[in-house]
Amino acid sequence: MTYTRRTFLALAGAAAGLGLPLRAQSLSGAIPLVTREASLQLLPNGYPQTRIWGYDGAVPGTEIRVPQGARVQRQLVNDLPEATSVHWHGIRIDNVMDGVSGLTQDAVRPGETFDYDFTVPDAGTYWYHAHNRSYVQVARGLRGALIVEEPHAPDVDRDEVLILDDWLIDPETGQIADTFDQPMMMSHGGRSGNYVTTNGQYNLTLTAQRNDRLRLRLINAANARIFALRLQGMTGWTVALDGMPLAQPQPVADTLLLGPAQRIDLFVDITAAQGEPAALLNVDTNEPFPQVAFTVTGQGAQVARAAPAALPPNPRMDLLDLANATPVKLYMSGGAMGRMNAAVLNGERKGFRQLAAAGYFWALNDVANMPDTPLTTLSRGDHARVAITNDTVFPHAMHLHGMHFREVTQGKTGSMRDTLLIGANETREIAFVADNPGKWLFHCHMLEHAASGMTTWLEVT
Ligand code: C2O
Ligand code: CU
Repeated sequence: MTYTRRTFLALAGAAAGLGLPLRAQSLSGAIPLVTREASLQLLPNGYPQTRIWGYDGAVPGTEIRVPQGARVQRQLVNDLPEATSVHWHGIRIDNVMDGVSGLTQDAVRPGETFDYDFTVPDAGTYWYHAHNRSYVQVARGLRGALIVEEPHAPDVDRDEVLILDDWLIDPETGQIADTFDQPMMMSHGGRSGNYVTTNGQYNLTLTAQRNDRLRLRLINAANARIFALRLQGMTGWTVALDGMPLAQPQPVADTLLLGPAQRIDLFVDITAAQGEPAALLNVDTNEPFPQVAFTVTGQGAQVARAAPAALPPNPRMDLLDLANATPVKLYMSGGAMGRMNAAVLNGERKGFRQLAAAGYFWALNDVANMPDTPLTTLSRGDHARVAITNDTVFPHAMHLHGMHFREVTQGKTGSMRDTLLIGANETREIAFVADNPGKWLFHCHMLEHAASGMTTWLEVT
């Protein structure tokens, strides 16, 4: 059952009149998730408020936190001036609930609703975001965390969800720069912001005590920025990537790279004493700065602990049958300073300048538009290996919907992920078990690249 916006507002009004909370469940059993415009104090105090698009008017959107195996019911109520849909990034979901406008559903028009209803088979750190004109809608703020809790809480003192993002703010007005279709951004590294936030805050500062063990759930919600991070005043272990637990926690020795859409779950032990600096440092730029600062307030009750145990594995940590896997090739080309001089657009071969004039700068297997036919059709249960050649001078963050993969480049067996960062001119190979039937998008998560040529899909029948 769906409601029009008018009905929803009437219902909400009625609920308010009865003294019920506004977020009362709709008759379908789904909790509303309202996309709407709002003004936030995103910039420091003293600067103007910024108009954003947010889930329930907030950035990040309302956190959705459920136990593993739970049923999630959310009714998208679109109160925006344009059509939208919600993608539940990294969830092994029923295809009809995947939220991809134009592939798994029609975009939900202003004033209309859509009932999302799915279960979450895997524990871990996931997120949700708009999947219609994503490069505009995500940049305007349509993103939030989706946290699936393990049946037994791991031994940590606190669990912190940290959504890293950036904003391109027009300094004159304090508003989100309305420059989404700029060829310069599309054809280079994508839209990078001039204002970096965590959970919608510049200079997020948390408090902690020495020897506290914190779980930090890092989510990169930026359109195109790759975050480079280091730990200061703490020791850490990577315990999960893209939601999926590592077989063994990996001590953090070096810079952590977090590509668009990727997640890293860390356990960190605060080693700094009171007054000493502790931070998740952003080392993207020449001058590192605290992406998240921790004020150490003293000695906690805990003494230093032994290294953490691994998180429990999720139900499907597939081992792959590479010898019998279906081989697939994905050739990435285009962009500024690239070699691509022609590609197919809507069935016709076009030169780079014609492509650019139509808003396309990249191609996958020499096709620039989202193709009508899938990259490959796999039978349920097939194993597939995809050799991805990045013949461009930019890194890309390739994301497969519906199924996690492992990197298998040159004999390696990576941990399960849903988004792979591929450097310029690299060839990398991923493999997965095609166990989820449906039409699954496969695209670069640098959202300007996805919008201008780097989107394809595959089918599992
Ligand atoms: Cu997180 Cu197709 O996206
Ligand atoms: Cu890309």
